Amino acid sequence: MRLIRAKDYQDASRKVANIISAQVILKPDCVLGLATGSSPLGAYSQLIKWCERGDVDFSKTKTVNLDEYVGLSADHDQSYSYFMHHNFFDHINIDPSNTNLPNGLEMDDAKECARYDKVIRDLGGVDLQLLGIGANGHIGFNEPTVEFVTGTHRVDLTASTIAANSRFFENESMVPRQAYTMGMLDIMQARRVVMIATGANKAQAVYDAFCGPVTPQMPASIMQLHPDFVLVADEAALSLVGDKL
Ligand code: F6R
Repeated sequence: MRLIRAKDYQDASRKVANIISAQVILKPDCVLGLATGSSPLGAYSQLIKWCERGDVDFSKTKTVNLDEYVGLSADHDQSYSYFMHHNFFDHINIDPSNTNLPNGLEMDDAKECARYDKVIRDLGGVDLQLLGIGANGHIGFNEPTVEFVTGTHRVDLTASTIAANSRFFENESMVPRQAYTMGMLDIMQARRVVMIATGANKAQAVYDAFCGPVTPQMPASIMQLHPDFVLVADEAALSLVGDKL
């Protein structure tokens, strides 16, 4: 793995935006794997600015998102589909038909998971996957558990993830209890993976994931095995790692 040290959130966001924009410039019809949450927002707004200036062109780019809440429609204001449109897709020159997310309203999980894995396969896999990291070490919604799950699957969110994500909802009881998420093989097969980790509340997860053993109890630790994994982290998130990486 490669570690890129950033000063703070803004610095980390610009560095991640630079990596994504280089990918799109080098391969305009690339497949980007995208994430939601607070971590990628700064990178998305930087990319929007560069796109407006004509520095980066998303007209041929395709995207697949990591995850979506089960039970929320694409236009629900807390769905990840809404998040992506509101914070990124609606402000860049991407063709909306080239963007993909799991369908949170499909209750037949076998059908939806097979469909989404086929979407990823038919696109030829992901060129660059962007990840955040949960305070409990989850990536996508692959929560700490006893085994890595390979493909897209439906998961029960853990109490800590529900509590962490309740900041986006009126109250905790409104947070969906389940989500569809890409699996570990989907993520590991991305040709390059870039994780952004910032803030002191990620320091323990970053330390456990990258200075400890590879284990499904700490899902992000599997990235130690990825041949082209880049961690962009700020000083606060690296406070426990020190110079161990
Ligand atoms: C979201 C996702 C999650 C987040 C993680 C960190 O699509 O895949 O794994 O990356 O929960 O969330 P933030 O960035 O809000 O701290």
